Amino acid sequence: MASSHGNLSFIVSALVFAIVASNGLSELTADYYENSCPNALSTIKSVVEAAVQKERRMGASLLRLHFHDCFVNGCDGSILLDSTATIESEKSARPNNNSARGFEVVDEIKQAVDQACGKPVVSCADILAVAARDSVVALGGPTWDVRLGRRDSTTANPNGANTNLPAPSLNLTQLIKSFQDQGLDEKDLVVLYGAHSIGFARCVAYRAHIYNDTNIDPNFANSLKYICPRDVGVGDGNLAPLDCTATKFDSQYYSDLISKKGLLHSDQEFFNGGSTDQLVKEYSYNSEAFFRDFGNSMIKMGNIQPLTGEQGEIRANCRKVNN
Ligand code: HEM
Ligand SMILES: *[C@@H]1O[C@H](CO)[C@@H](O)[C@H](O)[C@H]1NC(C)=O
Ligand SMILES: *[C@@H]1O[C@H](CO)[C@@H](O)[C@H](O)[C@H]1NC(C)=O
Ligand SMILES: *[C@@H]1O[C@H](CO)[C@@H](O)[C@H](O)[C@H]1NC(C)=O
Repeated sequence: MASSHGNLSFIVSALVFAIVASNGLSELTADYYENSCPNALSTIKSVVEAAVQKERRMGASLLRLHFHDCFVNGCDGSILLDSTATIESEKSARPNNNSARGFEVVDEIKQAVDQACGKPVVSCADILAVAARDSVVALGGPTWDVRLGRRDSTTANPNGANTNLPAPSLNLTQLIKSFQDQGLDEKDLVVLYGAHSIGFARCVAYRAHIYNDTNIDPNFANSLKYICPRDVGVGDGNLAPLDCTATKFDSQYYSDLISKKGLLHSDQEFFNGGSTDQLVKEYSYNSEAFFRDFGNSMIKMGNIQPLTGEQGEIRANCRKVNN
């Protein structure tokens, strides 16, 4: 009797352990580096602040790197790996090629933080999560407690980047689906898309919207046609701001959508007569709600399938796996 009880409780705790282990979110904690490297977070912050001061757009680029990391094999630093004989990088996958940027700043952070800790204890995946938060704060947005303890991958997944990173041509149904696939709901989608309050897009990303879509303010579309010629291959890299206050993190993005000034086709999908219109309206006049929800959804995004415990490694160089 006693022994069958013991067996049962063993099975129950093994089950609980299996559930907790498969649900990595419960393993990340905000004070993860408090003992092993008390200056880690302040070191990351000062490098991010200097980089943003030098170029405001860098804050946007760093925020996007964390997103593009988390949607491919989870938040595991896989986007940072360079190509080698055995690794095909995510950097040259379609959504990242000539687009993802900020890798030199990540190198700089890594060097500074390893020096502050005396050895490599902070993962590249965690650096991306903290740098994203510090970038948003540096550009006037909200703060949140970043959960930490992610480890770094030893592989990259360029096919995953092509499949999982949503394209600007998607419609609302497809956008909802791509977030659902990562365990994020419709509200997470609308609030995280508020990240387009900062930063820039290339002509290739918004050309179809300004020439072919009808749900766009015609004056706004015409003004962009000077920057972005109709012919494919001409001025493909020419940049336009994602909202009309692109160096400041604010709720202006949502007001732009209401006046049909979304830059990307996918942007305008959120205010186009569908299920997300109401939330766009609310965020446009309630930036407090936007700020609060943004932090919560960033924590949720940062919890996507982290490597923890003995999984993966702490890279010494974010661009390469350890020897
Ligand atoms: C929901 C689907 C999303 C789509 C379709 C999308 C698409 C895009 C595209 C096409 C660009 C321009 C890239 C270029 O032309 O080089 C861009 C830029 C950007 N995206 Fe997104 N995005 C999405 C969600 C997000 C999320 C969730 C975040 C962050 C939490 C984010 C943050 C950014 C930022 C900050 C930029 C500007 C980057 C810079 O200036 O370097 N995006 N996005
Ligand atoms: C990435 O961009 C470069 C430079 O424009 C181009 O030569 C290369 O073919 C692109 N790679 C992929 C995989 O599209
Ligand atoms: C969205 O796109 C998919 C795939 O092209 C299509 O099947 C679907 O009908 C579209 N949904 C809407 C609401 O347009
Ligand atoms: C606009 O749509 C037409 C017809 O579908 C297509 O041939 C053209 O490539 C599109 N133009 C842009 C800039 O996407």
